[in-house]
Amino acid sequence: MNAKELKDKYVSFFVSKGHKEIPSASLIPENDPTTLFISAGMHPLVPFLLGQPHPLGKRLVDVQKCVRTGDIDDVGDTFHHTFFEMLGNWSLGDYFKKEMIPWSYEFLTKVLNLDPKNLHVTCFAGDEDAPKDTESHDLWLSLGIPEDRIHYLPKKDNWWGPAGAVGPCGPDSEMFVDTKPEEGQIDFETGCKQGRIIEVWNDVFMQYYKDETGKYVEMPQKNVDTGLGVERNAAIFSGFSDNYQSSIWQPIIKKIEELSGKTYEPGADKNSPDNKSIRIIADHLRSAVFIIADGVEPSNKEAGYVLRRLIRRTIRRGKAIGIDKNFCSIIAGTVLDNQDNYAGTYPELNDNRDKILSILEAEENKFRKTLDRGLNEINKLIARNHQVSGKEAFTLYESFGFPVEMIEEELQKNNLTLNREEFNQSQEEHVKLSQTLSAGKFKSGLADNSEIITKYHTATHLLHAALRQVLGDHVQQSGSNITSERLRFDFSHPDKLTEEQIKQVQEIVNQQIQLSLPVLKETMPFVEAQKQGALAFFGSKYPETVSVFTIGSKDTYFSKEVCTGPHVKNTNVLGTFEITKEESAGSGKRRIYAVLK
Ligand code: ALA
Repeated sequence: MNAKELKDKYVSFFVSKGHKEIPSASLIPENDPTTLFISAGMHPLVPFLLGQPHPLGKRLVDVQKCVRTGDIDDVGDTFHHTFFEMLGNWSLGDYFKKEMIPWSYEFLTKVLNLDPKNLHVTCFAGDEDAPKDTESHDLWLSLGIPEDRIHYLPKKDNWWGPAGAVGPCGPDSEMFVDTKPEEGQIDFETGCKQGRIIEVWNDVFMQYYKDETGKYVEMPQKNVDTGLGVERNAAIFSGFSDNYQSSIWQPIIKKIEELSGKTYEPGADKNSPDNKSIRIIADHLRSAVFIIADGVEPSNKEAGYVLRRLIRRTIRRGKAIGIDKNFCSIIAGTVLDNQDNYAGTYPELNDNRDKILSILEAEENKFRKTLDRGLNEINKLIARNHQVSGKEAFTLYESFGFPVEMIEEELQKNNLTLNREEFNQSQEEHVKLSQTLSAGKFKSGLADNSEIITKYHTATHLLHAALRQVLGDHVQQSGSNITSERLRFDFSHPDKLTEEQIKQVQEIVNQQIQLSLPVLKETMPFVEAQKQGALAFFGSKYPETVSVFTIGSKDTYFSKEVCTGPHVKNTNVLGTFEITKEESAGSGKRRIYAVLK
């Protein structure tokens, strides 16, 4: 079964169970500064898992683009990936275990035709935070899974989330497939260790909120969040033991073979350096394509830095298998041409094709120059001093971006070794220095801007409430960005705003400013804030106790939002509000720029 078939079958199955399909969100989280990338299907849905009504209802299904960089060093084996697609379905306070577990069973055994004899499942064993999940256990038993294939496991195995530091999470029930039943009976733990029994799907019963103190608080809304990885399942349900054998990877691997003259041998020698390099190149370039398509460019910080690392690792691996000319954009072209799986699903790929290819080309040129310059420097140092000190190596790394592993390799060629301790020490000193510098910068930056930034924060709340008045309650904040020059506000709304609507929104905001409304700050439990109807869209960041800002009087307020602030004390200091631009911010989303004068 190819990936496209798997995705289509999954989505149709859940649509037939009353779910609405939603498009994948961007890989870059809009409201969660604690993580660089979306790492699970539930991640963009956090506000709705916390109780905000979703415009499409309580049952959702999607294919979400994800990036996980936590185990980037494991990529190169047959089953780790940085970018992957996750199939998921959600109950936002609607159905729960007694619907979800039978559906999981039905999808696996009736749609994917899995022989139930090869299915193992796990349930949460219980601890001081949440009870033993006997309900899931009993449901699996009632479906015919015998006791010896239902395993109770503790929190480290059978609890999922939160996606960031805090947020919704809960006990889960995971499904595993024995991929080699013909080899006879095997116990669950050994089978998992050998990679013979593999997890295929995770049903999370998301009913807790982990707060900043590490406490698990029961949420009023009981959700279901599930996740099924496309790459892994497309391989398993096609009978492959190596993910890279599936239709997702084959065209990419063929291209790498063509460029390098090497042959990929699936499963033959999983850890041969050539096989590993081919997998790393395929994985990293596919990720780079998707990351650039979502607006990231290579840089030295945050997501841009991850992207740069992925590209640089790719180029080094390319060199290792004998590709000595630029190749990133050629392979990216193959990823983009994979019409079957991607281009039709993700319009951002076709829309940004030229940009993706030219960014990769430019970054590759830059890195190849870096490598040449760095090698030159290293060889000069070796000729002069018969060594490269740890400190010098750090300078090469820091100022040229020359990878330390390559410095080591170059030294090895000359029978020399790098003093890693000295290198690490130089690095630590550098980190300390830049932390001190940036702390200073932050302080002065904030002092310069605080008054106008504060005004824009309050103006954002007024704009949000005004949009909901004019357009309706389906308006949900999906992003906000404030500089000392303007505010930018993204929200869900299907159509372009008419001039009349823009005028109305602007007028309402200015009326509220002229009414000299007080801005009241209160501290209360998050649950209470929700009960009072406070808007709360930055769910994944909320601690148990939150600040709520009310604009207007307590009973007849104009706006009430959970927010960390800062805000002005009265709207009368805001001046005049003007919307300067209204545009699309992706499918079903609009963006407004506005200024205070
Ligand atoms: N959020 C769950 C996962 O990523 C479903 O496994």
